Amino acid sequence: MHRILTFVLALALLILPILATPSRLRLPGSALRLARKHGGGETGDDDDGPGGDNDNDDDSNADGNIPDLGDSAGIPDVANATNAACVPFYPVRDAILGGVFGGRCTDLARASVRLAFHDAGTFSLRLAALGKPNGAADGSLLWDPQEVLRDENNGLQDIVAALAPLPQRFNVSPGDVLQLAGVLGVLACPGGPRIDAWVGRPLPANKAPNGLLPSPNDSVDSLLGRFADMGFAPVDLIALIGAHGTARQRFVDPAMAGEAMDTTIDLWDVNFYRDTNVATAPHNVFRLASDVNLAHNASTKAFFHEYIDNQPDWDQDYRAAHLLMSTLGYKTTELVNCTELMPASINLTRVSMPDTVSGKAVVDPGLLEAAIQKYRAPWLKP
Ligand code: HEM
Repeated sequence: MHRILTFVLALALLILPILATPSRLRLPGSALRLARKHGGGETGDDDDGPGGDNDNDDDSNADGNIPDLGDSAGIPDVANATNAACVPFYPVRDAILGGVFGGRCTDLARASVRLAFHDAGTFSLRLAALGKPNGAADGSLLWDPQEVLRDENNGLQDIVAALAPLPQRFNVSPGDVLQLAGVLGVLACPGGPRIDAWVGRPLPANKAPNGLLPSPNDSVDSLLGRFADMGFAPVDLIALIGAHGTARQRFVDPAMAGEAMDTTIDLWDVNFYRDTNVATAPHNVFRLASDVNLAHNASTKAFFHEYIDNQPDWDQDYRAAHLLMSTLGYKTTELVNCTELMPASINLTRVSMPDTVSGKAVVDPGLLEAAIQKYRAPWLKP
């Protein structure tokens, strides 16, 4: 009996520190998803605000034709902040969501999501194990003026220029500004989930290592290997590249500059997975070779196909993977959870109506605009 107790105690001591970090390296993606579905995950299953209990929540403020988003977060006000450490970040949120994005899914909002990946994507467990200078979700792209000049960061110049003054203006770190912009960029695109926002990153320890970001010409094995080196399971990689559903390409094929990577670039939806999987690219859709390979490769296609027409699973997995991405290089015990400042997510189901011909639910532009006018009001440009 004594031996069994000692064994259980030792096991608990081994597991507890692992659960204290957001890293999914320790838990395979599918196991983590199962854990989350049964209430054991780190981000929760719905988009509630702090203390939210709205599994079935209806917003009592919903009025007239303005859709109820089913998300109690609404527009969090600094006057109601519950964590003093988050107070300085409300004006940073407003400067990004209002001053930079204008409250909408603009080119700068999309670019901030790619920026968040290019910042965090220089993290390497291999370099960490060797004690070598490493990358992290540390805002080095706003801190080292040379980093955005690297070829792999082409296209990020405008968003870097827009965000670069904010750390000094608000006396917060470049990592916090950049990664807050990443989660707000997702949220600015209708359908984008409310990802947990963490702050408290110190200044970068060094310049980001070069050559670690993936290329559309990389093989699936090499992509899986590189993402594993960041701490991601295959399911995370497949969930994260769904961000290409609100993406344009400019430099892969300059002759097609500006082409979208799915049929609904202004919506944070799962059409990317169908558009990438079908035999022929839909009209005016540009597909990256890497995305097409991931859709068909034996090691990844099951994850990829799971998200076709499956927004709830993608939302859940994307939120978890983006949270991990935004904290790469840090433990959550070193950071502060400021999700309380994140506004409501615009749930696409709540702004959809059945199509008169097919009967399928499609986003109604009038309902969508009404939701944007209500839930993004403080940040909209006139
Ligand atoms: C397999 C790994 C990935 C590869 C090879 C890749 C590659 C690319 C390329 C080539 C572009 C177009 C750049 C241009 O020509 O302007 C792009 C755009 C973009 N990527 Fe990725 N990417 C990867 C993963 C990710 C991840 C993990 C995210 C975020 C979670 C992301 C978010 C975006 C976004 C939002 C854009 C559009 C930016 C804009 O419209 O300005 N990508 N990506």
